[in-house]
Amino acid sequence: MKQEMMTIVTQRLLAPQIYEMTLTGELVKQMIIPGQFLHLKVPRADLLLRRPISINKIDHEKNECAIIYRVEGDGTDVLSQLQSGDKVDVMGPLGNGFPIEEVKKGEKILIIGGGIGIPPLYELSRQLVAKGAEIINIQGFRNRETIFFEEEFRELGEMHIATSDGSYGTEGYVCKILDTRLKEFNPDAVYVCGANGMLKVVNERFIDHPRAYLSLEARMACGMGACYACVCPKANSETETMRVCKEGPIVATGEVAL
Ligand code: FES
Repeated sequence: MKQEMMTIVTQRLLAPQIYEMTLTGELVKQMIIPGQFLHLKVPRADLLLRRPISINKIDHEKNECAIIYRVEGDGTDVLSQLQSGDKVDVMGPLGNGFPIEEVKKGEKILIIGGGIGIPPLYELSRQLVAKGAEIINIQGFRNRETIFFEEEFRELGEMHIATSDGSYGTEGYVCKILDTRLKEFNPDAVYVCGANGMLKVVNERFIDHPRAYLSLEARMACGMGACYACVCPKANSETETMRVCKEGPIVATGEVAL
């Protein structure tokens, strides 16, 4: 992990409150594993805590990476106002990332995402396709307006969308699509990133699967394992915890209490 003043190449609005920021800098060379995150300093003196944002795309040829984030408060609002050419203080890449070494050509991989949990699944999908895997993305959104990156995911393989209000795709939650698709095949591996409710359901469903992984979300401060602001209780233990920023954010199903 290193720290650098990275340069913003582009910044664009993808959906209401959802922004994509492309960055360039030496740190891109260290971004290899999908599912890791960057810790961005907000350029306003009173906002001390960095904002953890997962890496959406890595492009070593252009020496660029992209992040996608939702404006949820002052910090992300300030970040959304930065423009191309501006510098931003970035630490990273941080966290363990999705384990994909064991993925083999021809394997069927299930990738489940919800809302702002979806961005890291794009780089994951790209890398799995590059390994020759067949990917099935199932994604959940609140409604049609909040959908982003649909075309980009469709270009990589099978893709299904559910919206809570039924304004696009299947009405309801991702489980509805999951139930139908799982009657037809058994995934060789499963990767999930989304809200806690979704993680809980998928965790239970794939608790005995040997290669099912969840990306956890937590409030963070240092982002590098020093402050214990992000601890999460381990499953089947009254006392053991793990740091989401350091030992996570990716865990196997059954590893933590959700
Ligand atoms: Fe400090 Fe995780 S945020 S230990």
